[in-house]
Amino acid sequence: MIEFPSNFLWGAATSAYQVEGNNTHSDWWHWEKETGKENSGSACRHYELYARDFDLAQNLHHNTHRFSIEWGRIEPEEGKFSRDELNHYLDVILTLRSRNIEPMVTLHHFTNPDWFSTSIGWENNISNAYFLRYCDFVVRALAKHIRYWITINEPTIYLSHAYILGVWPPQKKSYTKAKAVADNLASAHAGTFRRIHAIYKESGLPRPAVGIAQHMQAFVPCTPAIKNRLAAYMRNKWYNFGLLDKLTREGTLDFIGINYYSRQLVDLKKWGLNNLAKDICQQNHHPLKRNSLGWEIYPDGLYDLLLELKKYRLPVIITENGICTGDDGLRWKYIYAHLNSIHRALENGVPVTGYLYWSLLDNFEWDKGFAPRFGLIDIDYTSYTRTVRESAVKFGQTCKTGILE
Ligand code: FCB
Repeated sequence: MIEFPSNFLWGAATSAYQVEGNNTHSDWWHWEKETGKENSGSACRHYELYARDFDLAQNLHHNTHRFSIEWGRIEPEEGKFSRDELNHYLDVILTLRSRNIEPMVTLHHFTNPDWFSTSIGWENNISNAYFLRYCDFVVRALAKHIRYWITINEPTIYLSHAYILGVWPPQKKSYTKAKAVADNLASAHAGTFRRIHAIYKESGLPRPAVGIAQHMQAFVPCTPAIKNRLAAYMRNKWYNFGLLDKLTREGTLDFIGINYYSRQLVDLKKWGLNNLAKDICQQNHHPLKRNSLGWEIYPDGLYDLLLELKKYRLPVIITENGICTGDDGLRWKYIYAHLNSIHRALENGVPVTGYLYWSLLDNFEWDKGFAPRFGLIDIDYTSYTRTVRESAVKFGQTCKTGILE
């Protein structure tokens, strides 16, 4: 039997664009149509059905729920802010609170207002001023209901997918632009962190906890060859810890949010900067079970990364961890194994304070569409019926008791 601390945060995460539906003012909405990708359309209709979804989360004993605010709804045209949409999110928050669920709010989860992407974009140095203005509007209105803020979800995934690999909007493949985006996202985070704290102080509210959701993966050398070990070391330093080193140095994190899913087997074909950054083993040398997108299941990696995070002496929250699969038994095994890793890390002195499964609902998995099923709750995309999965019930027991049987 494994027991977690009594004040542990337990729950699940979603993001606005992936569940709400009809985010017509967001850049993704237009991009989906231009590229002919599967459209997000009504998604899970969570924009209308959130109260029922939170009933289910409450029945599953979640005490925390992470969700995001869609910037394109709040500011559909540059400088025009929508009170109605703000009130929608206020109602989302009050609906959670009335079910004794702590809301954790993400201010940016990959999507931007279409006007922002078309005329400004994150590669532009003034981008963070626009972001800050939006955050200011939202935070002032919601501050008294919120203790946990996440400024930006996975900056490294956003910039690599949108500006290096070019598979997400705005599909710009440029290292120079990617570097500018990295710098601008980092300073947008820092500016927002300071602004949030200033607003709470001004309003006489208790100090909130402001963090980031950092994507981390385990980089494992496929063979112990020096080239592979060096590449794994460098990737870990760049992708996993580069931004965290910077933000902790400048003191702009109250907690570290970690999104962890999988590992990457590093196998360098030859020496070169690109190879150091990208080469992976294609041979399936050390096969592990995979999710339906082919990502390997590697719970030990989470343990190793958590131990490395100890040096920052900050609370750590697992802000995402989950599996897309048609095998719900495997989903529970995945959750169980990762909770085990987290518990081992706790025993070794890592201050982990919460675990949020990705995701509460099946949802729109970006350029992969609706096929991947990450949810604790199944969505029928024709009738929008929700069905609670067996894994959700098992996880719910742990949420209720803090015990992993
Ligand atoms: C993370 C994203 C989240 C979801 C999961 C599967 O990288 O933050 O929106 O797509 O992956």
